[in-house]
Amino acid sequence: MRRCVLSLWILMWILGSAPQLQAQTREECQECHADPELTTETESGEEISLFVPDSVFDASVHADLECIDCHADIVELPHEDTLKAVDCGSCHEDEAEAVAKSVHGMELRARSPDAPACADCHGTHDILPMDNPASRISKANQPETCGRCHSDPDIIARNQIPMVAPVAIYEGSIHGRLTQEREDAATCSDCHRGHLILTPLNPASSIFKLEIPNTCGKCHEAIYEEYRISVHARALQQGAKDAPVCTDCHGEHDILRPENPESPTSGFRVPVEVCSPCHASERLAKKYGLTPARVTTYENSYHGLALRGGKATVANCGSCHGVHAILPSSDPRSPIHRDNLVETCGKCHPNPTENFARGRIHPVGEEAEARVIQMVRWIYVVLIAVVIGFMVLHNFIDFIAKAKRLRLAQHGHG
Ligand code: HEC
Ligand code: HEC
Ligand code: HEC
Ligand code: HEC
Ligand code: HEC
Ligand code: HEC
Ligand code: HEC
Ligand code: HEC
Ligand code: HEC
Ligand code: HEC
Ligand code: HEC
Repeated sequence: MRRCVLSLWILMWILGSAPQLQAQTREECQECHADPELTTETESGEEISLFVPDSVFDASVHADLECIDCHADIVELPHEDTLKAVDCGSCHEDEAEAVAKSVHGMELRARSPDAPACADCHGTHDILPMDNPASRISKANQPETCGRCHSDPDIIARNQIPMVAPVAIYEGSIHGRLTQEREDAATCSDCHRGHLILTPLNPASSIFKLEIPNTCGKCHEAIYEEYRISVHARALQQGAKDAPVCTDCHGEHDILRPENPESPTSGFRVPVEVCSPCHASERLAKKYGLTPARVTTYENSYHGLALRGGKATVANCGSCHGVHAILPSSDPRSPIHRDNLVETCGKCHPNPTENFARGRIHPVGEEAEARVIQMVRWIYVVLIAVVIGFMVLHNFIDFIAKAKRLRLAQHGHG
């Protein structure tokens, strides 16, 4: 890309702009613009500086450019009072094209004052490449650069952006904390891209549901490979929109390490916060032929009860099923396949026998039991309703009969 931009620039220089460059060199501009006192007033009466320090410009990635490579509408000096906006896309075509297709580009075309132009994210005379720690787009600085708008409550409200504190929440996450120290953790553009930023509902977006495993998988390759074969990933591929991707279990801006007790993926929280929202749901059970009783039967098992009692070392859903490569019991690779149960329980129970491992865990037997209990409960309810109903009816008839007799007796006396 860099070479392409450079050769494009050299070509332009040879073809057209060379004579102009000689006519208006940087030195000529700097006769006035190297003056720290040079200012002007905007339409709204605000004073702005027109000082362009050579030291800043020389340190930037564009140090070899002439001023008029960017301020291309200047043909002679002195120049017009009002100049056109700089078109960075004249040299950086690919970037300009990607921005134009993004949510930001749509806002720019609609002339929204809140929309970011190239300079809002990159700067003007002080542009540095991403790998320079002082750059506005370095991994550590992106939260601040994007946050100028995405942490501004007025901009968020005016544009009805669904997520109201993306930056503050991200900064508390494992990625947010690590980007301040390391180059390999995820910053804004790792998940959203720098230019082709789209809403999560757009299928071309890097954060569209089906695309998320690829986005996270760029860095978490081994886990991606495990997840890819899971019942969840395969169901998703076949159109089961409710099956989970990485962010359904981990969150997105608020991802924490599993050993952090605040994380939904920390062992004792997994049954309630990760698996239950889907596996205890009657709606999903019906839709996918699952049984919601898996969760209740777990909760009533020795493991479930011990977990609620605060014993964190006990088995949670993930201890037996795994978390990324979850497979049905019919799959021989699954830790809950009959042949693998001794090994699965053996992680915590020393030398379990086959019988122990195949004993009632949380499944079918107890579900059936639960269903019988449910049925008995219903029979009781109906029986009680009928008995009480008959009693009320009997008493009512009795009362009417008594009342009639009383009235007859009174009539006789009168
Ligand atoms: C003789 C002094 C002088 C020279 C030489 C000069 N400028 Fe300026 N420049 C000014 C002044 C004064 C203004 C403020 C104009 C105004 O706002 O009325 C200005 C404004 C500008 C602006 C802001 C325009 C806007 O729309 O707000 C740009 C950009 C600029 N100059 C670029 C350049 C470049 C590039 C060169 C060299 C090719 C250059 N100038 C040479 C004096 C100069
Ligand atoms: C990489 C492109 C680029 C180069 C090279 C460049 N400028 Fe600019 N300049 C900009 C952008 C972008 C702005 C912001 C306004 C806009 O978008 O037109 C700007 C704004 C200005 C302004 C208005 C005040 C301000 O800082 O916003 C002045 C004055 C100016 N440039 C002078 C110069 C001078 C003098 C040089 C050469 C030393 C130069 N520029 C080189 C991109 C450039
Ligand atoms: C006249 C052509 C030209 C214009 C206009 C121009 N650039 Fe550049 N830009 C270049 C060249 C050439 C390089 C490569 C410099 C290098 O690698 O040493 C570059 C490098 C960059 C880089 C660093 C890229 C990298 O791979 O290290 C960024 C970021 C950048 N430009 C942004 C901008 C922005 C933003 C604007 C508009 C304000 C702009 N450029 C306008 C020619 C231009
Ligand atoms: C919303 C903020 C934002 C806007 C708007 C934006 N960029 Fe970027 N740009 C980034 C980020 C973040 C990166 C680094 C990640 C990447 O490469 O995607 C980047 C990377 C770049 C690079 C490569 C830099 C390097 O060191 O590798 C160039 C060149 C560039 N942008 C040019 C432009 C141009 C030209 C525009 C306007 C058409 C523009 N950008 C608009 C945020 C932005
Ligand atoms: C100058 C302000 C500004 C900057 C800087 C900025 N954005 Fe935005 N962004 C906006 C506005 C305004 C919208 C709303 C667009 C709309 O209405 O759809 C938006 C929309 C978004 C959306 C889509 C939100 C939705 O409605 O679905 C994402 C994602 C996003 N920006 C990410 C970023 C990232 C990442 C960066 C930094 C690399 C960044 N933005 C920098 C102003 C900005
Ligand atoms: C680990 C990946 C990841 C990182 C890092 C990340 N995001 Fe996000 N972001 C997402 C995902 C996934 C969503 C979509 C959430 C959804 O579906 O509602 C999102 C949503 C958003 C939205 C709202 C879009 C909408 O319509 O709901 C904005 C704005 C946003 N992110 C900005 C940022 C900014 C700014 C940063 C850097 C401080 C950042 N993100 C860092 C993954 C990430
Ligand atoms: C740019 C690379 C990158 C991307 C993209 C990325 N991550 Fe990370 N992530 C990391 C790094 C590096 C760590 C720290 C690893 C470590 O120190 O153990 C990390 C840590 C984590 C952790 C904590 C791991 C642990 O062992 O405690 C989780 C969970 C996580 N990421 C999930 C995700 C999810 C989900 C996504 C997608 C929404 C994602 N990551 C996207 C690089 C990335
Ligand atoms: C069904 C829920 C679920 C899905 C889907 C899921 N995870 Fe996890 N993930 C977990 C749980 C629970 C843990 C904690 C496991 C533990 O304590 O060992 C975890 C642990 C992790 C860890 C840290 C521990 C390790 O093994 O290194 C990373 C990193 C991670 N997941 C990334 C991802 C990525 C990337 C994806 C998508 C490709 C993903 N996860 C999909 C539930 C899930
Ligand atoms: C976002 C919702 C969601 C989450 C979270 C989720 N699942 Fe699932 N799960 C599903 C759906 C939907 C299916 C059915 C897929 C299909 O069509 O076969 C499924 C299937 C399964 C199956 C296979 C069932 C069978 O009968 O074949 C197992 C086992 C399973 N999930 C375990 C878990 C565990 C353990 C967790 C927590 C670590 C979990 N799931 C988290 C939605 C979810
Ligand atoms: C102590 C180990 C263990 C724990 C803990 C556990 N399961 Fe299971 N689970 C199994 C075994 C073994 C089977 C398969 C045998 C059976 O159906 O009886 C199974 C079956 C399932 C199935 C049906 C899958 C199939 O292919 O038949 C689902 C869905 C399920 N469990 C979800 C969960 C959820 C959700 C949790 C946590 C709330 C959980 N399990 C906790 C061991 C466990
Ligand atoms: C993550 C570790 C772990 C895994 C895996 C695990 N268990 Fe347990 N299990 C425990 C702990 C700890 C207790 C003790 C609970 C208590 O203190 O009440 C326990 C208790 C039990 C009990 C109650 C009686 C006793 O021995 O204390 C049975 C039965 C049991 N587990 C069966 C199983 C079976 C069958 C499997 C495999 C399908 C299994 N467990 C997998 C940790 C585990």
